[in-house]
Formats: sequence, C-alpha cells, structure tokens
Amino acid sequence: MEFKNLTVETTNNIATVTINRPAALNALNEQTLADLQRVFTETHDNDGAQVIIITGSGKKSFVAGADIVAMQQLSALEARRFSKLGHELMRSIETYSNPVIAAVNGFALGGGCELALSCDIRIAAENARFSQPEVNLGVIPGFGGTQRLARLIGKGRALELLFTGDMIDAAQAYEMGLVNKVVPQEKLLETAMEMATKIINKGPYAVRQVKEAVRNGLEMDLDRANQYETELFGLCFASLDQKEGMLAFLEKRPANFVGQ
Ligand code: HXC
Repeated sequence: MEFKNLTVETTNNIATVTINRPAALNALNEQTLADLQRVFTETHDNDGAQVIIITGSGKKSFVAGADIVAMQQLSALEARRFSKLGHELMRSIETYSNPVIAAVNGFALGGGCELALSCDIRIAAENARFSQPEVNLGVIPGFGGTQRLARLIGKGRALELLFTGDMIDAAQAYEMGLVNKVVPQEKLLETAMEMATKIINKGPYAVRQVKEAVRNGLEMDLDRANQYETELFGLCFASLDQKEGMLAFLEKRPANFVGQ
C-alpha cells in the first residue's frame, strides 16, 4: 500500500505505521486521517498484520494534534465533518481485530493524545509529552478525548487535564495509567517490537477474542459481561488454536498456532 503521509513496514506480521509530516510535527490533516483509515480498513484479519504499531517520524513528535492550519477556517459543519472523520478512524483502531500499540516518541497533543488513547497499549519514550490543549484554542477535543481519557484515567484526572490543557511528561502519564511503559527514546521501537513479538507468539484467535471481550465487556454490566466472556470462552474450543495449544502443552513442546 502507498500512502501520502505514512510509511508502513511489515516484518513477521507486525506492521509499523509511521506518521510522516515532520514539518508540521506529524499533525493530523484530512489526508493523514484518510491514510490511517486505509491501513485499518484494507488490512484483513488473517492476511493482515497480527499487531500494528503506530509511531511518529522524527524524535520530537508523535502527533502534535489535529492540523490547526487546516482547522482554522472551518465552518461549523466542516468542523463537525472533520471530527466525524477522526472519530471513525479512532473507532477503526479500537475495533481492529488485532492489537494496536502506540509507540509515543514525543509530543502527543490534542488529536495525537486521542490517537494514542484509541490504541490498545501505549509505550512512551522518556521525552513523550501528553496534553489535551484544545481549551487554549477555544475548542474541545473532537476525536474522542473527552470520552476515552476519562474512561482510561478516571473522571477527576481527565477533567483536570481537559480544563487546564496542562502538558504532562511520560513519568506523570505512567503514574496516571495513561501509558503502560516508559523507555528511553532509542529503545522505544525495540520495546514495542518485543511486546508485539511476544503477542504474535500466542494463540492469535485467543488474542483477538481477548480484545473483543475487554472492549465489548466494558460497555456491559458485570453479569452480562461475564456471560459474554463465557460465550467467547466456549467459542475458543471451536478453534484449531485451542486444540493445538492444549495438545502442545501436554506433549511438552511449543505450540504451532494457525490463528483459526
Ligand atoms: C499544525 C503544527 C501543529 C498543529 C505544530 N505545528 N503543531 N501545525 N497543526 N497541531 C507546526 C508549527 O506551526 C511549526 O510550523 C512546526 O510545526 C514546528 O512547531 P513549533 O511550534 O515551531 O515547535 P516548538 O516550538 O518546538 O513547539 C512544539 C509544540 C507546539 C509545543 C508541539 O508546536 C504546539 O503547541 N503545537 C500545537 C499543539 C496543539 O495545540 N495541538 C492540539 C490541536 S487541536 P512552522 O511552519 O511555523 O515551522 C486538536 C483537536 C483534535 O488536536 C480534534 C479535532 C476534531
């Protein structure tokens, strides 16, 4: 696949997507949203990447937000449409069948923080910085920040970041549960790759069901969510991976999963 504002490199079923607009600190304009959307809609379950890593080009910025130059003159209806495009992308990432890891290599501001929030796991370089600075511009987040941030770190801490627009460093983000890990910049992609490699060596069908169970279950009450888990657990026993995984354990050998 060829893209205008991205590069995609696939090794061993792990795709690394690098957002590449360095002159604007990788800010998200409509073209970049469309490029990213293509990665997630045109990559199919079994043929596509088993893990996708999203990062930004350069050492300074993951994504410095939605593109302010492009937004400045929007009418209300155009702004609504732009927000909707971003929401569709974030949802495609969240509902992508396989895990998505954000490797946050610098500024993750506004739409950049929202992009990281839509990923399953966030690994931050020590120089990463996070904020939802929209109130500085007289607007609110429009790619899900008011919703996913509160769900991830809790209402009180989310509201403080959203009201003040304060920028926090990687250590503070870690303390709040906004990121899973903080590593030196030069180890960032290596760490993301290691995690991705660990994941692709597990039963792929089960990994996909885990994502599904957690995502959908969190939207249900506990009884329904537990029932849902029971159904998905049962379904695993219709997979070749369950047969192979358990047989391999009993035969004391590594499993050869097929992802079905
Ligand atoms: C467009 C941007 C940009 C952005 C940076 N640039 N962020 N262009 N949109 N979000 C551009 C700058 O204009 C500049 O271009 C170049 O990138 C380098 O940035 P500098 O400001 O010179 O760098 P520095 O002084 O190091 O400051 C870095 C920064 C700052 C702290 C990240 O650029 C900044 O505050 N950016 C804006 C962050 C922000 O407010 N993001 C939220 C946007 S609203 P030139 O041409 O001058 O070299 C949002 C809403 C999402 O995301 C929802 C939408 C529906």
